[in-house]
Amino acid sequence: MALFTANELVGTARLVKKILEWPVHKFIPVAIKAAILPRRNTSISDQRWNREYQSGEWEFLSTTKEVGRYSVILGYCLHFKPTARVLDVGCGTGILAHWLSSAAISSYLGIDLSAAAIEKARQSTIEGAEFAVADVTAFKTSRLFDVIVFNEILYYLRTPEDEMRRLAQSLAPGGIFIVSMWHHADGASTWKRLRAGFEELDCVRIAHTPSGLKWNVAVLRPR
Ligand SMILES: C[S@@+](CC[C@H](N)C(=O)[O-])C[C@H]1O[C@@H](n2cnc3c(N)ncnc32)[C@H](O)[C@@H]1O
Repeated sequence: MALFTANELVGTARLVKKILEWPVHKFIPVAIKAAILPRRNTSISDQRWNREYQSGEWEFLSTTKEVGRYSVILGYCLHFKPTARVLDVGCGTGILAHWLSSAAISSYLGIDLSAAAIEKARQSTIEGAEFAVADVTAFKTSRLFDVIVFNEILYYLRTPEDEMRRLAQSLAPGGIFIVSMWHHADGASTWKRLRAGFEELDCVRIAHTPSGLKWNVAVLRPR
């Protein structure tokens, strides 16, 4: 006599499949994942960024759920450096430039690896904003900035802390970095290294309730 009917076996197999598909990783705190997972910052070629910008893959950055981080960056600029000269590293299509155009900043330069993103940024003709195609890892300037922003770009730099240390030479005395990163395991290990190398003046965690997405935005300065 069979112990289980065919239906019971199919039912059990379905249940096991469901359990295996359960996203257990979602319930492990980011700090624990950061400690156990290897660091995985990977650079992406300019050709791929261009393709992605041309196909509209990054248009979601202009949607409501991203508003929190742009507004916190704007708020930090107003609070710490209201008349700042701003360098926006990895500026994409210049969304932050739009936000900052409502503030009394003295100048804005956005640089990005992607020529397609910079072309879109220039089309938006934000008064006083300058945009340039440049790879931050090779970027050199004689200009000084009061605020250097890394808004959702550090994941794509193999050694973000080294790039920031190098760019610290372009900070005016008392200048600050503003860093925004989506709250996830790889980001947590980057934060650890940034906090070891820079002094954190402030940090905000943004939670977009409908999507469950979170970001950390921090103000740092060279030690
Ligand atoms: C996720 S997007 C963020 C865009 C923009 N900061 C925003 O939040 O609206 C990351 C941007 O970093 C740029 N990027 C990646 N690696 C770069 C590099 N080495 N130098 C300059 N820009 C880079 C990409 O082209 C892309 O526009």
